[in-house]
Amino acid sequence: MTILADYLKQYSSNTAVNDVICTIAEVGKTINKLLQRGAFADILGEAGNQNVQGEDQKKLDVIANNLLLDALTQCTHCAGVASEELDDATPANQSGNLLVLFDPLDGSSNIDINMAVGTIFSILPYQRSGSPITNTDFLQNGEKQLAAGYLVYGPATMMAVTTGNGVAMFGYDPDKDAYLLIKDHVQIDADTKEYAINGSNYRHWQQPMQQYIDEVIAGKSGTRGKDFNTRWVAAMVGDVHRILCRGGVFMYPFDNKDPKKAGKLRLMYEANPMALLIEQAGGAATDATHRILTIEPNDIHQRVPVVLGSKNEVAYVQQLHESALKI
Ligand code: AHG
Ligand code: MN
Ligand code: MN
Repeated sequence: MTILADYLKQYSSNTAVNDVICTIAEVGKTINKLLQRGAFADILGEAGNQNVQGEDQKKLDVIANNLLLDALTQCTHCAGVASEELDDATPANQSGNLLVLFDPLDGSSNIDINMAVGTIFSILPYQRSGSPITNTDFLQNGEKQLAAGYLVYGPATMMAVTTGNGVAMFGYDPDKDAYLLIKDHVQIDADTKEYAINGSNYRHWQQPMQQYIDEVIAGKSGTRGKDFNTRWVAAMVGDVHRILCRGGVFMYPFDNKDPKKAGKLRLMYEANPMALLIEQAGGAATDATHRILTIEPNDIHQRVPVVLGSKNEVAYVQQLHESALKI
């Protein structure tokens, strides 16, 4: 069996990037153990504070954030980190040449109900190694990512990772205390009959998104001529993992619930790393009109609408939005 470190050696010559990925994978083992113990590890419930985005933090959001922060600030290659749970970028080692962004715990509403959650990460180059980092250093588009991935803590803990040479999936084997390669060169089918969206927001969506959902719900009797199935994990990591396993399309579109917000998901540590994984697996990722990886960020916590997954389905959603713009 191929272990994570050996796989990385084979596919990526950037030893600093490989080292950071292995550091995150080690933290994943600790988060996995905490989740296995659940209530007995005192990780459930509210932390009692809000993050910079005004969201109530769960205990595990804070614990996972601190574990990653501790590990990455000790990692010599990491010049700084940015996290969903930290207002500003945090310096690590000034001589490092990498920046690491993460969502320490994705799918926080699943923690207390014993459902799948995850950790998402994105690794960017640091161009000013030797100087103190600022938030601005992180504002690079998704194409600049040197690597991206996630850990999903489900019935089994798994990791998907890309260093720009395809996507590989690893399983954590607690008996061997190691991440072992399960699937290499992961590819997503271009067509699908499965879609993921929080349908309770229907009335807040724009017309093209409503039209798309009307069409898939109409199934065989509608213009699409085939029946679709809905799946919603309420943790993007879980939905993206399913899409990497068997295709599908995941959407968290713009909605008018709070029109000041461009979307719910965050570009730099949710949409960009997932977009890179999905593209590397032959899928597509758009904000409904632009390829996510080309969006120039202006804030580390900026939000973005997300449509990603099976290529033809994503193209169709984008086409509906583009046609609406032309009217
Ligand atoms: P986070 O827990 O990091 O804030 O992210 C939650 C995100 C995403 O993972 C998921 O797809 C979505 O929020 C779930 O949203 P709903 O509550 O609307 O289902
Ligand atoms: Mn998240
Ligand atoms: Mn989170």
